[in-house]
Amino acid sequence: MTDHIRSSSSVADDAATRIADLRSRPRRTVLAVPGSSVKMIAKAKGLPVDEAFLDLEDAVAGPAKIEARSNVVDALVSGGFTAQTVVVRVNAWNTEYTVGDVTEVVGRAGAHLDALLLPKVRSASEVVALDLVLSQVEKSAGLPVGYIGIEPQIEDALGLTNINEIATASPRVLTLVFGPADFMASIGMRTLTVGEQPDGYAPGDAYHHVLMSILVAARAHGLQAIDGPFLKVRDEEGFRRAAARTAALGFDGKWVLHPAQVDAGNEVFSPRQEEFDKAEGILATYAHSTSVEGGARGAVMFGDEMLDEASRKMALVVSARGRAAGMTVSSQGSADA
Ligand code: GLV
Ligand code: MG
Repeated sequence: MTDHIRSSSSVADDAATRIADLRSRPRRTVLAVPGSSVKMIAKAKGLPVDEAFLDLEDAVAGPAKIEARSNVVDALVSGGFTAQTVVVRVNAWNTEYTVGDVTEVVGRAGAHLDALLLPKVRSASEVVALDLVLSQVEKSAGLPVGYIGIEPQIEDALGLTNINEIATASPRVLTLVFGPADFMASIGMRTLTVGEQPDGYAPGDAYHHVLMSILVAARAHGLQAIDGPFLKVRDEEGFRRAAARTAALGFDGKWVLHPAQVDAGNEVFSPRQEEFDKAEGILATYAHSTSVEGGARGAVMFGDEMLDEASRKMALVVSARGRAAGMTVSSQGSADA
């Protein structure tokens, strides 16, 4: 069946299903790849990250921006990414490039693309504008309308202030992504090192309010929350420390800039084996005890902890993340259950 003879409601249903699939994919590691570097794109294809994004924005110098579009199109069309989700970061609306980026990349390679990452989003209207342009380009390229997602990046005080409107500006929105470098610059934070705490602010986490605001808005609207880069790429311990903080809050993943950050990112944003085993144990115990055969009990002991319906919800989160990461219950876990 071709798109033009399908009813518009079935196309819309398909788009909703596609967007739901994109929203549920793992994004423990999101690899940033400069679109101007054919060499780095080739290397990126083999890296075991969950999402890779080809950058047309801040990792590409002004004079290389136009040529980078062709590199990105060629890379998408030739395929071969290990990453399950492939995204392109277009330039922000305050440049002269956004419409051209979308037209070139989606027009020529939209069938090979999952989403566009939109940087420096300050208001819902920027997401609406991208949605409208995307719909036109999808139509003129013969692509189904609404299949390409949008990942808005929150990078300044105004964007954070408008975060709930941004999150709900289009059905295409998949995630909310933190841009710490631009954000720190926008609020005047006194540091030049992205990902580390500013000197003089200890103890405590100077990003806590921003991170929690992004996370709460994402969860309020059924989206994923993604942390941005840690720029000292050779400092694996520092990367782990920063990633562990946002993973502990509940973020789904973090950008990685270098192969050395990939394994650490995948590990930190997956549940630990004993956590996964425990979650699966809680789900099995709770399912049994609340069933008629198990006595229809709503509160039940699991080891020395009392479980109820809220415990089941917490366990579901860990279980879903573990399963998405390909985990199974260990023999030790099944022995304990
Ligand atoms: C990423 O875009 C950042 O500004 O940190
Ligand atoms: Mg930025």
